[in-house]
Amino acid sequence: VDPTLDLIQEIEKLKKEKNAIILAHYYQESEIQDIADYIGDSLGLAQQAANTDADIIVFAGVHFMAETAKMLNPSKKVLLPDLKAGCSLADSCPAPIFAKFKEKHPDHVVVSYINCTADLKTLTDVCCTSTNAKAIIDSIPEDKPIIFAPDKNLGAYLNKVTGRDMILWNGSCMVHEIFSQEKIVKLKERHPDALLIAHPECEAHLLDMADHVGSTSSLLRFTAESTAKEFIVATEVGIIHQMEKANPEKTFIPAPPNNTCACNECPHMKRNTMEKLYLCMKHELPEIHLQEKQIVEGRKCIDRMLEVSA
Ligand code: 13P
Ligand code: SF4
Repeated sequence: VDPTLDLIQEIEKLKKEKNAIILAHYYQESEIQDIADYIGDSLGLAQQAANTDADIIVFAGVHFMAETAKMLNPSKKVLLPDLKAGCSLADSCPAPIFAKFKEKHPDHVVVSYINCTADLKTLTDVCCTSTNAKAIIDSIPEDKPIIFAPDKNLGAYLNKVTGRDMILWNGSCMVHEIFSQEKIVKLKERHPDALLIAHPECEAHLLDMADHVGSTSSLLRFTAESTAKEFIVATEVGIIHQMEKANPEKTFIPAPPNNTCACNECPHMKRNTMEKLYLCMKHELPEIHLQEKQIVEGRKCIDRMLEVSA
């Protein structure tokens, strides 16, 4: 790409020319968030994707999010700036292995976190995000046993808040497992008035000491509504951009990772760059393609989720 090109201007031009909409997750780099038409959590993004009248959906997020948008809009072109933008949670639950596991529990309802592949969605009864997970589980009759995939940390948290005893798949998010409890305790000693806020993909010992647990949109809302002036943020650092924008007088400290080489940025989310965003809109590539079965079967669990969350 010509280094003198004004990428912001070019992307804006392409949006109009092609009737394209850019949907961005809170974990995207700040510049991408600033040029997006909608920034949100996984639920908000799925709802936007379901309702857009744009011809092209450009997904500034990861692969499972773009797949979800394609299932909801099979006739539209869905672009992802980098097809390799995956997710450790989605990778942790391969559909063929899960299918065998499911066969052993034929009486169980399968609830899957939306962070999973299109193939896993075809094996799922109802999907959820961290925003609506409790409501989705509460909507299932109490006498129905549940398998929850793929996030064991979110699953354990949900077992606690719903009082259920769901069988948990052994998957996890590489970003949310990296925080150091020891360093956070020390940080709290130095910032006694700071509140610890954490995403439920974090491990239980961290959630137990948090002042607020919630999805990215819930954390964002909490920082705006709370009278506290300082927050230690235990989720991917990209979200801090919106927190600072909405609350310039407040301080946001990223929760420290457990060793100095580790980093609390999601390497998948951060594969997308302004340059790749521009190129993908210009060439309309890479595009998400799904098989008919993935769309028809996979979509059902998303539709069920959207009905409960409407
Ligand atoms: P939410 O934004 O829905 O809370 O999801 C967090 C996440 O890890 C997305 O990959
Ligand atoms: Fe997946 Fe975790 Fe990255 Fe979200 S932050 S995309 S759950 S690896």
